[in-house]
Amino acid sequence: MQYKMLGDSGLDASIVGLGCWAIGGWLWGGCEHKDAVEAIKASIDNGVNLIDTAPAYGFGRSEEIVGDAIASQRDKVIIASKCGLVWHRQSGEFYFHTDDQALTDKPSKYAVYKYLGADSIVYEVEQSLKRLKTDYIDLMQTHWQETTTPIAEVVEALQKLKQQGKIRSYGVSNVTVDHLVQYGPVASAQQRFSMLYRENQKNGTLDYCHDNNIAVLAFSPMEKGLLTGKMGPDYKFGEKDLRLNDPLFSVASRTKINGMLANIKPIANAHKISLGQLVIAWTAQQKGITHVLCGARNAKQAIENARAGDVLLNDEEIKMIDAQIQTVIKTS
Ligand SMILES: NC(=O)c1ccc[n+]([C@@H]2O[C@H](COP(=O)([O-])OP(=O)(O)OC[C@H]3O[C@@H](n4cnc5c(N)ncnc54)[C@H](OP(=O)(O)O)[C@@H]3O)[C@@H](O)[C@H]2O)c1
Repeated sequence: MQYKMLGDSGLDASIVGLGCWAIGGWLWGGCEHKDAVEAIKASIDNGVNLIDTAPAYGFGRSEEIVGDAIASQRDKVIIASKCGLVWHRQSGEFYFHTDDQALTDKPSKYAVYKYLGADSIVYEVEQSLKRLKTDYIDLMQTHWQETTTPIAEVVEALQKLKQQGKIRSYGVSNVTVDHLVQYGPVASAQQRFSMLYRENQKNGTLDYCHDNNIAVLAFSPMEKGLLTGKMGPDYKFGEKDLRLNDPLFSVASRTKINGMLANIKPIANAHKISLGQLVIAWTAQQKGITHVLCGARNAKQAIENARAGDVLLNDEEIKMIDAQIQTVIKTS
């Protein structure tokens, strides 16, 4: 496993991080507690020390599971959690209603707001600390940005929490360059990035982070499993799975993407790695990307993803992969 600093935080994090959204169950058709705990433990056993979660992932469930899994090895992990997607109050910007029944032991209806008011951040951090069963969070990230709270207020709240030792560093997520300029120095930015989603490369966000020592944690690098090549035309999604009606996962789209993956498979074969590992390694080597957050629902997936942290592709291989990606991006 390779490790890189999270900006100027002093935290040395594995370049492959474990993403714990699916583990929360919500929008992913549920997830078994035992499988989730095993995925987290297997990640740590295979060199992963960066574990990304959020209150919104299963409305507390993902953080609770992370807390259960790391209880005996808290000092081995960098916990990255988030704030700013709230359901305890109706302030800020309304985002969505959800009534996902996957969370059988919790209320099934939530009204979620984007809100980063100082008192709300303090409340959220207290709740997260309880669920994670710890007294500090290594990296606190603002999950989504909103326009009702001045960024100066958000920064002041985060700095106060840092002085109190409740968080060790802070970062942002889903930001533009303009947001980053307003925030000033932050340890990290968590941004969507994959072979198929290159917006942050085009709009200058990755370059800005690269030039300003801000770690970039790429999220959904495998396009929610699509880029592992496992989703053939007959692949079925569960009723509560967010991929069920997403056009990216239509049979036509899957067929096109799998064609591209077949063309880069020889490079994976040459390294004796899977397509998913090739995709993770390619992502980790893009300019500006420092860490790749990979979701995993069980130990098998977690181990496979973690091992991609050892893979280094040469320039020729990267070029060949880029050429293949262009063929599907141009026709999307
Ligand atoms: N900041 C934000 O707004 C934001 C947004 C999205 C995600 N994130 C973070 O980024 C993390 C990663 O993104 P993501 O979970 O959306 O997508 P992803 O990492 O692209 O895909 C994860 C999914 O792919 C499948 N998978 C993973 N490893 C596999 C393997 N080795 N073989 C076969 N299938 C595999 C699993 O789902 P199945 O088994 O069900 O196929 C898994 O849940 C999240 O968990 C979260 O921490 C942040």
